[in-house]
Amino acid sequence: MIEVKNLSKEFEGEIVLNNIDATFQKGVVNIIIGKSGSGKSVMLKCLVGLIPPTSGEIFYDGRNLIGMRAGEVRRLRRDIGMLFQGAALFDSRTVLENVMFPLEMFSRKNKRERRKRAEFCLERVNLSHAADLLPSEISGGMKKRVAIARAIVLNPKYLFCDEPNSGLDPKTAQMIDELIYDITTDFSITTIVVSHDMNSVINIGDNVIFINEGIKEWEGAKTEVMNAENEKLHDFVFASDLFKKIKEAEGIIAEDEKVVAAKAEEGKKSDKIIN
Ligand SMILES: Nc1ncnc2c1ncn2[C@@H]1O[C@H](COP(=O)(O)OP(=O)(O)OP(=O)(O)O)[C@@H](O)[C@H]1O
Ligand SMILES: [Mg+2]
Repeated sequence: MIEVKNLSKEFEGEIVLNNIDATFQKGVVNIIIGKSGSGKSVMLKCLVGLIPPTSGEIFYDGRNLIGMRAGEVRRLRRDIGMLFQGAALFDSRTVLENVMFPLEMFSRKNKRERRKRAEFCLERVNLSHAADLLPSEISGGMKKRVAIARAIVLNPKYLFCDEPNSGLDPKTAQMIDELIYDITTDFSITTIVVSHDMNSVINIGDNVIFINEGIKEWEGAKTEVMNAENEKLHDFVFASDLFKKIKEAEGIIAEDEKVVAAKAEEGKKSDKIIN
């Protein structure tokens, strides 16, 4: 579990994150949504310790990242898997070598053990057949899967994904979402996904946090997102044509149901008169 308390970040006086409180549970996919520039990536970077917040606290299962000693931060980093925006693979290394890389950096496993663990993770993302290919020889969706295999190779307790399915076709995007969901539940990881894709929210978002202009505007379950009362969230969700159409269709169906119910009522009344 990760707990964020009063997290704020300013860049030269400009407030990007404003006093955010949030709790991210283990074994579920937590999704941070918000429009472009709302502070999602900055929040993720603060959470993993890539940039220092201006104020606030970040507890990893009770351990506060803020004020942690360097050695402890290094140990914590070992428990963190990160999926960067774009796959960020090494071009000159094969798929398998890319996945083995964190093991070379952070583990004491010998070469055979490293290979075995990397092969296991590649199998988990259905890419065993691509182990010896170079990144330039595989598709965008496959690159994301390699990046996921690399992110989980150290058996992380915490997984952070920044826009994991951007630039992918809807079907491949859904596959990546489902992979993240399955890995999260299988290995009981605390997963935080940053996205502005409403499809991802509906597919895999167990807990959804909506950030607008650096403020946490709303938090809830994916089932509540569509009918939330918050106006800013409503504008964000229904900025997507598809969701607007779904909402309109729901409205039409509801209207139709009212008409049917009214007619049924009318029918009952006339039945009574006849009787
Ligand atoms: N290192 C930095 N120095 C100054 N300002 C920054 C820095 N990083 C981010 N910002 C500013 O913080 C704001 C939020 O940026 P952020 O990258 O978090 O947006 P985002 O919600 O991830 O958007 P997107 O959906 O487009 O990725 C922006 O106004 C951005 O210019
Ligand atoms: Mg971003």
